Amino acid sequence: MSEFKIGPLNHVGVAVPDIREAIETYRTLYGATDITTPFDMPEQGVKVCFVNLPNSQIELIEPLDENSPIHNFIRNNPKGGQHHVCFEVADIHEAVKEMNARGATVLNEPRIGAHGTPIIFVHPKHSNGVLIELMETPKEAH
Ligand code: CO
Repeated sequence: MSEFKIGPLNHVGVAVPDIREAIETYRTLYGATDITTPFDMPEQGVKVCFVNLPNSQIELIEPLDENSPIHNFIRNNPKGGQHHVCFEVADIHEAVKEMNARGATVLNEPRIGAHGTPIIFVHPKHSNGVLIELMETPKEAH
């Protein structure tokens, strides 16, 4: 087995039915002050923003329409819910290779995620029911 391992927790993904309301909750209930402006990622079927915290981020994701990959999640969890956890990795292609070698199911070809670096998702059945996102560390960030 290679030395491959996950790096820092980058963000926790939270699916929400209404991103404006969710932002208001983080502002007014939790006092968060650094929240990015929501933007659409049509190729992923979601509207996204980040609540920036000193050590991590909360990624709020709202389905753009009923073809969204999180449409069913919101239908099953109408108030929203914790959707995935994202860890940084040094090299996404090494991550794909190692996940496959270690018997996990990688759900997608690497694609550019909300941070502008390639991401993959690993099936929750391998991780105690938690959908895992692996994201290549942005080169300038560390
Ligand atoms: Co994410």
